[in-house]
Amino acid sequence: MIALSRVSKIYESSAGPVGVLRELDLTVAATETVAITGPSGSGKTTLLNLLGALDQPTSGTVTIDGVALGGLDPAAAARFRSRSIGFIFQLHYLLPQCSVLENVLVPRLAGAWTEAASTTLARAEALLEQVGLRDRMTHLPWQLSGGEQLRAAIARALINQPKIILADEPTGSLDPATGERIADLLLSTHAGARAALVVVTHNPALAQRMQKTYRLEAGRLVS
Ligand SMILES: Nc1ncnc2c1ncn2[C@@H]1O[C@H](COP(=O)(O)OP(=O)(O)OP(=O)(O)O)[C@@H](O)[C@H]1O
Ligand SMILES: [Mg+2]
Repeated sequence: MIALSRVSKIYESSAGPVGVLRELDLTVAATETVAITGPSGSGKTTLLNLLGALDQPTSGTVTIDGVALGGLDPAAAARFRSRSIGFIFQLHYLLPQCSVLENVLVPRLAGAWTEAASTTLARAEALLEQVGLRDRMTHLPWQLSGGEQLRAAIARALINQPKIILADEPTGSLDPATGERIADLLLSTHAGARAALVVVTHNPALAQRMQKTYRLEAGRLVS
């Protein structure tokens, strides 16, 4: 599902180039679960952004579901992202003026979907039920706890039935018990979605529950 070949990423900044990823290789099978760990600044978010077609490598190729992302123009990349990728961001980016249910439906706003609105709505409600927010659908994000906001963001990431779920530090700011419930939820939603799951985390308990664990070191992944 995911194939990265000799991927390098060098950021250009006023202080000079910052080399982050160095000829990195990674393959992830269609329903595999993968954890990526590594110290702060090692390039984990950089790597997820490449997997999610939010950024492009300086060199090397990123192929997702048979599509070479390097060949896509920005509009095609955006279409691809909305159809194939479910992103759970380090900061959740829920829209403050929209209810929980509306936030889950936001990824449907872009793109020409042929599905009936009632079917989409039913799926959004089912996802919110699955993440335990059935009673919070009409609430605004600020009325939710941090863990609840994260669960809303998980439901939003799944609304377009992505082939790949990417999660950046999903348990970062949560207490251990809530973190464990989020891990349960990620794994159960992953199983239901039949997608690949790539999780960036500092949390060893979460990393351990993935089928494979890699560590980013000196710009490369080590098992
Ligand atoms: N746009 C940018 N321009 C220049 N340098 C950048 C840019 N984005 C990230 N970097 C640098 O690249 C390195 C990797 O950043 P990245 O965000 O991928 O780290 P991370 O492993 O996700 O860290 P954390 O665990 O703190 O989230 C850092 O040293 C960062 O300062
Ligand atoms: Mg990061």
